[in-house]
Amino acid sequence: MKILFLDQSGKPGGAELCLIDIAKPYRDRCLVGLFADGSFRDLLLSAHIPVEVLATSQIQVRKESSLGQGLASLSQLIPLVGKVVRKARKYDLIYANTQKALVVGALASFFSRRPLVYHLHDILSPEHFSKTNRRIAVTSANRFASLVIANSQASLNAFVAAGGRQDLAAIVYNGFDPKVYQIPESDVSQIRQHLGLHKQFVIGHFSRLAPWKGQHILIEAIAQCPENVTAILVGDALFGEQDYVQQLHQQVTALGLEKRVKFLGFRSDIPLLMTACDLIAHTSTSPEPFGRVIVEAMLCGKPVVAAKAGGAIELVEQGVNGFLVTPGNPQELAQTIITCLQETEKTMVIARHARATASQRFDVATINQQISQLLEKKFISKTD
Ligand code: UDP
Ligand code: GLC
Repeated sequence: MKILFLDQSGKPGGAELCLIDIAKPYRDRCLVGLFADGSFRDLLLSAHIPVEVLATSQIQVRKESSLGQGLASLSQLIPLVGKVVRKARKYDLIYANTQKALVVGALASFFSRRPLVYHLHDILSPEHFSKTNRRIAVTSANRFASLVIANSQASLNAFVAAGGRQDLAAIVYNGFDPKVYQIPESDVSQIRQHLGLHKQFVIGHFSRLAPWKGQHILIEAIAQCPENVTAILVGDALFGEQDYVQQLHQQVTALGLEKRVKFLGFRSDIPLLMTACDLIAHTSTSPEPFGRVIVEAMLCGKPVVAAKAGGAIELVEQGVNGFLVTPGNPQELAQTIITCLQETEKTMVIARHARATASQRFDVATINQQISQLLEKKFISKTD
């Protein structure tokens, strides 16, 4: 089956990193069409996945866009749709990985008569998207997609609540290669030393810097923890959240935490950095659709504390394979950090259990099989 994957982003967010794993088995018979250039393209190329940047100017629809803005941006889409239609004729299937890719993919699917799959990585709720955006996404999926792959039950529920067709949808979690997360102890002590983390209890936060990812909650919690508790914030503002970045730096200064909170920027050595931490914190203040970092922490054998909402609840069972805290509550987070600091043996048992179960549950080979079975069931008789 030849697949034309579409993704609007040139930057590697979680949905894009997930797409790399999905496209890999199809690399000799697929193309990833991007609507922006950037380092995501380089990652695809280094995974030997064919990629082409199909749009040169940025599409101006944002999560909060109104109907007027949405319609205005439609005119921008027309040349792009034309290009995708011409490409799609050489493929059996269009696979849209993001919302703008869904809209373009829907129109291209109609004109090229190729079936459309939508991989839903978002929670389509009012907390995350304007009414217009939700309506456009749901209408495009309902009308044009033959299959909607949701990254969690939480994303699927929100899709249906927004008017999405349940009969189109299936849940497939993100897949990971457990081997990538096995880091030699010598590398870990080296990086800890290099980052000046010696003798610290290190909390890692791995996420793009954005208000709803809640880095400010972790900073506030650190201020309530003993002096040896330090945080590394790994990630950058990928989608223009510069005000928030400034706000975080101001918060660190105001709380006198300059020596205890380190901003490392965007990094490509996540497994190494995670393994160098004593605890990983996930602090999203709005429900997380899936939360790759939660699974990655488990695969590194590190305890994880996650905000109790959205997909995180499907990944973490309190006290069994991790810890859950009320979203947006720094006091509770600080309390959990202190418990992990004091009860190291018990915490390590939980982390070891998490590693063993996550390696099975999210194994990329099994996940890719689930996707290929879904595609085959829907499309094979029509395309081969
Ligand atoms: N990540 C990364 N470098 C960074 C920060 C994050 O490669 O500096 C990765 C992280 O390991 C994870 C992904 O970005 O795989 C973020 O995905 P997640 O599902 O946690 O959140 P998203 O940003 O997609 O909402
Ligand atoms: C999106 C979601 C994130 C999810 C990722 C991969 O970026 O925000 O929660 O883990 O997609 O599905």
